Amino acid sequence: MHFVVRGGKPLRGEVKLAGSKNGATNLMVATLLTDEPCTLHNFPAIGDTAITGELCEKIGSTIQVRDGVATLHTPTIKQSRVTELSRRNRIPILAMGPLLARAGEAEVPILGGDKIGPRPVDFHLDALRALGAEVEINKESYFARAPQGLTGAVIDLPFPSVGATETSILAGVLAKGETVILNAALEPEIISMVKMLQNMGAIIELGANRDIYIEGVSKLRGVVHEVISDRNEAVSFACLAIATGGEIFVRGAMQDHLITFLNVVRRLGAEYKIISGGITFTRPGLLKAISVKTGTYPGFMTDWQQPLAVLLTQTNGTSRIHETIWEDRFAYAEDLRALGANIQVSMECPSGKECRFAGKGFKHVAEIQGPAELKGDGKALRVRDLRSGMINIIAALVSKGETKIEGVEEIDRGYERIDERLRALGADITRVS
Ligand code: EPU
Repeated sequence: MHFVVRGGKPLRGEVKLAGSKNGATNLMVATLLTDEPCTLHNFPAIGDTAITGELCEKIGSTIQVRDGVATLHTPTIKQSRVTELSRRNRIPILAMGPLLARAGEAEVPILGGDKIGPRPVDFHLDALRALGAEVEINKESYFARAPQGLTGAVIDLPFPSVGATETSILAGVLAKGETVILNAALEPEIISMVKMLQNMGAIIELGANRDIYIEGVSKLRGVVHEVISDRNEAVSFACLAIATGGEIFVRGAMQDHLITFLNVVRRLGAEYKIISGGITFTRPGLLKAISVKTGTYPGFMTDWQQPLAVLLTQTNGTSRIHETIWEDRFAYAEDLRALGANIQVSMECPSGKECRFAGKGFKHVAEIQGPAELKGDGKALRVRDLRSGMINIIAALVSKGETKIEGVEEIDRGYERIDERLRALGADITRVS
């Protein structure tokens, strides 16, 4: 399947954000902690929730999805060793905590997902070990057992990893006694999961300095919870509005989740207006070059740097993106260059701003000279992964002429009916099966 995009015109209008991909799949796994039904509103109909649904069904869930509402019910754990999975996302490891809590053992496949760095899971496995699980790493799978249940402990994360924080919480809520997570990640998708678990009967306290305290309980109950809106989609639509010189009202965009991005918009010389129900993005005049460093929340999110990179091709001067979360997240620079962007990627941290990748040989810094006139000229781009697929679309919409984007199934994994929603903003994009 591919998209044909004819770009170069301003996009205008209103778009409603879907529920967050990373803020829905973690909740789906959290529902495995109870034998009662759980209902998720604002549920995104995307590839990644379908893949996670397969995981939950193998474990024993029945799932109904209708009109953006999903109900998941796992009365019993039918299978705790779930190795027969598509390996197309990185969610299965999160299921180890609930499986250990309810079945005393868990086996999940070695993980797949986007090729953006080595993506080890040592922090997840060490967290489970700290809570008393015996963990084996096999050729094709991770296996853990805790026949007597998990016991609360201190988990000191070497880095505020989103996934490892989620694993620690999901394993800690039904463990005996107190679990303390130090150096935890506090992304909005995690806070949403904490709120849902609290409503299910968990006792979780957010402390200062990235500490999370959990008092284990013996049982959790069903819940009704709303998935937060997707802050990655918000940034993609914002960058599209600004880069094409249009105006888009992004319904569901939340200031709380976008504070760092909104500051970047203002530094660029673009504008935003926060009104009831969402945020409008516009470009009043010339755009200025800027430097951005990605980081854990509340920093500038790594998943935002790709749409921003397209926007930076349209600024005046040299901009820089310093990626400090993923070792290898600039493969898409080649796609932007194919459309006429001037973007170089290097291994050197900006002087005085060394990060944990300094001297390790990772190409994690991009310099972008603008403004560049991007041109499709009938070129074909192949989608590399979910986020860079989305930037292929954004870049094609900014480019004059026609661009073909191949492999769009990967984009469907994270963005709901993206072509339809873009057409409503005036985009010329056609899906060809
Ligand atoms: N890390 C380790 N060991 C671990 C876990 C992480 O060394 O056991 C390292 C990673 O290699 C990376 C850093 O810690 O260098 C941060 O990784 P993190 O665990 O935070 O990432 P993740 O949980 O695998 C989630 C999102 C990503 C997003 C990152 C950072 C999901 C399903 N994925 O990944 O989203 O980029 O947090 O915010 O929630 C995407 O949606 O396209 C995507 C890649």
